[in-house]
Amino acid sequence: QFGVDPTWVDSKTLDELERKIKNCVKCPLGKMRTNFVFGVGNPNSEVVFIGEAPGADEDLQGEPFVGRAGQLLNQLLAGVGFRRDEVYICNVLKCRPPGNRDPQTSEIEACSPYLIKQLEIIKPKLIVSLGRFPVQTLLRTNASLTSLRGQIFEWRGIKMIATYHPAAALRNQQWKRPLLEDLRKAREILY
Ligand code: URA
Repeated sequence: QFGVDPTWVDSKTLDELERKIKNCVKCPLGKMRTNFVFGVGNPNSEVVFIGEAPGADEDLQGEPFVGRAGQLLNQLLAGVGFRRDEVYICNVLKCRPPGNRDPQTSEIEACSPYLIKQLEIIKPKLIVSLGRFPVQTLLRTNASLTSLRGQIFEWRGIKMIATYHPAAALRNQQWKRPLLEDLRKAREILY
């Protein structure tokens, strides 16, 4: 069904989940992708950073946040004491929307069960939403990022904060510092 092994829901590890869903064609993005971008990092991480969807670089390399936004993210993470390889990084959508347009509701509905399964397997202590899509998806709200930022939410017992997307901070330099401060706060929530 949909070209995906329906037993993915019982996956016990990230590797098993990835193997079972990487040929997904539940939505049209599955037929346009170069690579399915599952996620990267430490499967035992206490923190998971979630972005929106793969961009062109991510689609080509099969890894999240490897383009310009990813370089900024790495730099900011390092600035507050997180190493990219000790945390876990993924996106709401695993396949690139054409021209990097916003994810559509139907695509989020199709793909977000995979994100939720990743979170169930990793069981982090903290989720950091980069931009509005991850927090809106998990909390099932349409509230703006401005109204969501600065609060600590709980999603199934896991703390969650929302901050600016690094790509947005590249376009609007004034958001870089608050993004860095939010990442520092994430560090403080954990340690
Ligand atoms: N933007 C995202 O939201 N995710 C990526 O992986 C890259 C850019």
